[in-house]
Amino acid sequence: MRTFVAVELSARARDAVAAIQRQWKTSIPSARWVRPENLHLTLRFLGDVDAETAGALAETLRRVAHQAAPFTYCLRGGGCFPSSKRARVLWVGVEPVPDALRRLHAAVEGAVRGLGFEPERRGFQPHLTIARLKSPDRGVGDVVAALAGVEYGDTEVSELVLFESRLSPRGAAYHALERFPLGGTQREQLV
Ligand code: 2AM
Repeated sequence: MRTFVAVELSARARDAVAAIQRQWKTSIPSARWVRPENLHLTLRFLGDVDAETAGALAETLRRVAHQAAPFTYCLRGGGCFPSSKRARVLWVGVEPVPDALRRLHAAVEGAVRGLGFEPERRGFQPHLTIARLKSPDRGVGDVVAALAGVEYGDTEVSELVLFESRLSPRGAAYHALERFPLGGTQREQLV
């Protein structure tokens, strides 16, 4: 099964992002907009894993989560990858990036490497993908500019989630395989 590790967003933030998606839909007609229930913040994409590896992953993620502290993050602004002119992914940003999120990402990365996964070469740029594009679209620049000042509210993260991604002709559907509570007692505040 195709898997990835992520954290979720609050219901309020999800609704706020969905409203922005509705608002800008017509500006980028060629985009495939991520369904609100599919929105998430990826920490690590793992790809296809067999049942045995999934079991080992769950055990490792449970330990990582137990050693991590719950924290709060704020969704704000936006951008695209790889650039406005060649945009393939339109995203909402995490700002500021909490140290606890970086530490959690590093812990997950270290843990999955310990299980034999190849290192992720790209640096960690926390983002929430809200739309994907097959080809460049001039509307993207306007949308990114409009997203600059937008705030979507805070999310309190209390668990790490191992997701399965099921691909179908209607697009991907994400299904939480297991949730791992963050076990630290020290809550990290936004700056
Ligand atoms: P994205 O949000 O930047 O598109 C499930 O597909 C999640 O895993 C997506 O959120 C996606 O990130 C992330 N991901 C990272 N690398 C991927 C890859 N090579 N193929 C598919 N998804 C990937």
